Amino acid sequence: MKVLVTDPIADAGIDVLRDTDHEVVTAYDVEGDELLDAVADANALIVRSGTEVTREVLEAAPELVIVGRAGIGVDNIDIEAATDQGVIVANAPEGNVRAAAEHTVAMAFATARSVPQAHARLKAGEWAKGEFLGTELNGKTLGIVGLGRVGQEVAKKLDSIGMDLVAFDPYISEERAEQLGAELADLETTLKRADVLTIHTPLTPETANLIGETELAEMEGGYVVNCARGGIIDEAALAEAVEDGIVAGAALDVFAEEPLPKDSPLLDVEDVIVTPHLGASTEAAQENVAVSTAEQVLAAFNGEP
Ligand code: NAD
Ligand code: MLT
Repeated sequence: MKVLVTDPIADAGIDVLRDTDHEVVTAYDVEGDELLDAVADANALIVRSGTEVTREVLEAAPELVIVGRAGIGVDNIDIEAATDQGVIVANAPEGNVRAAAEHTVAMAFATARSVPQAHARLKAGEWAKGEFLGTELNGKTLGIVGLGRVGQEVAKKLDSIGMDLVAFDPYISEERAEQLGAELADLETTLKRADVLTIHTPLTPETANLIGETELAEMEGGYVVNCARGGIIDEAALAEAVEDGIVAGAALDVFAEEPLPKDSPLLDVEDVIVTPHLGASTEAAQENVAVSTAEQVLAAFNGEP
């Protein structure tokens, strides 16, 4: 069988496939006609978030059995088109949860203490000690939108440093929230009470622009962290809210336009700190998701669940 890999994944995953004598072809950064040509005889396609697996791509791949997503979000894959074609879509839902949660916590502390801004000033030769007065997270309230795998891991970590937890997630039980020490609330209450608001939903038609101007206006000077998906928060509204002081600062790992959000107004705002979609970028996480995805491809080839 031919496995086409169009976004870089860890060697450990490639090895799992090669060890079973399948042909593995890597073609990174291909798009347009080049991508259509590359998938023409593929039996499996493995991607991360870089490759857009559109209906056109799926229709150009008549031999395809499975699209493996070496990570969590499947918003870059047209699942309806895959289903129409009888193609399985399998993600790796567990392997990068800890990495994403750790990055979220790092971003929350970094924005509350202006770490990147202070770092840049000192590297530029300035001792700007008097200009940075941070916020202690202990004793403050964490508002979590989306209390799934990553949201729960973030909840545990920030609970342990003394934050109170309030969460908006219409699909999670009161009981599960209680076990985590989180109070379930509606979105408005979560926004109002959050000293730090953190987003952990998938990007779906329901969550696209979930947090816009009206929602941000409910915040009273807290920080916003988004390590989930661009497009869940309206970027222009967030940039304005930070400029106006409605939001004290924001920390973003994901953008509506990737790889480079060159048109995002957020890049020009001093109190917005950014990373280039690094949430899952640890050695352990990349190995986990690559191996798990390779195993799912093998299961699909073998007709296993
Ligand atoms: P998950 O499916 O385990 O949890 C998502 C949660 O969001 C669920 O509990 C669900 O009930 C909730 N939800 C769905 N729709 C909602 C809505 N309209 N309002 C409120 N809550 C809603 O997913 P996860 O593994 O926790 O991943 C969370 C997000 O993080 C995804 O978008 C994923 O793609 C992203 N992610 C990003 C990185 C990164 O590199 N930055 C790494 C891993 C995951
Ligand atoms: C994910 O959804 O798992 C993230 O986008 C991580 C990634 O693949 O970069």
